[in-house]
Amino acid sequence: MSGRLVGIGVGPGDPELLTLKAVRRLGEADVVVTLAAAGRPSRARAVAAAHLTVQARELHVPLAMGPDRTAVDAAYDRLAVAVGDELAAGAVVAVLCEGDPLLFGTFVHLLDRLGDDAPVEVVPGIPSALAAAAAERWPLAVGGEGVAVLPATMGPARLHAALAVARSAAILKLGARVAEVRRLLDELGLLDGARLVVELGGSDERRLPLAAWREPRAPYFSLVLTRGLGPRDDG
Ligand SMILES: C[S@@+](CC[C@H](N)C(=O)[O-])C[C@H]1O[C@@H](n2cnc3c(N)ncnc32)[C@H](O)[C@@H]1O
Repeated sequence: MSGRLVGIGVGPGDPELLTLKAVRRLGEADVVVTLAAAGRPSRARAVAAAHLTVQARELHVPLAMGPDRTAVDAAYDRLAVAVGDELAAGAVVAVLCEGDPLLFGTFVHLLDRLGDDAPVEVVPGIPSALAAAAAERWPLAVGGEGVAVLPATMGPARLHAALAVARSAAILKLGARVAEVRRLLDELGLLDGARLVVELGGSDERRLPLAAWREPRAPYFSLVLTRGLGPRDDG
């Protein structure tokens, strides 16, 4: 293989939160890969659009999300073969990733399918959880405190266990679980102060108390910032 695969984190939505290295690598790409749930445009592409060159070929991979992983796994398998062929032909293949590529990123599924010897570079991006904390001026942790980044999909029991040790947490992947998360935080006495951050960095950005959210679902690009039950370090 003489080409190179680059996983590029483009941050959560504000195009000014791309790193200088991300911009440089975008300019070097022969092939630009985007992945998104079938029927949805790629948010990562929209964030990086100004930096794509006209020469770069684009490959968009729609993912049929749902409880059955078969179709999604097959799409990753096909992508890994296509990327392997491009690398063998000497191409620089850039995969655009929302936030950071290795934090709940689809890029991890591609990495898993390429051998350890594949020429891969990861350009870290600003994760949505950290950008949300910045927007909210929300101290995540100091001193000996812990901070957690958790998917709502882990369910209330495991969320509770993680919140028990963290000073603060970001809860991602809310969707239809937003009511469950809200109920748990209420039971734990954490609902007051918990914040819902929707479409951070985009034109539809909203930031509001989680307690004020009454819809049965939260948008895909939304997360909760909450205090945890872990001890505070006042030292
Ligand atoms: C598959 S994870 C990808 C996380 C991403 N790699 C990161 O570093 O932020 C998708 C989840 O991240 C959160 N997320 C990503 N971008 C967001 C944004 N701009 N605003 C709010 N939440 C966001 C949402 O909870 C969403 O369900």
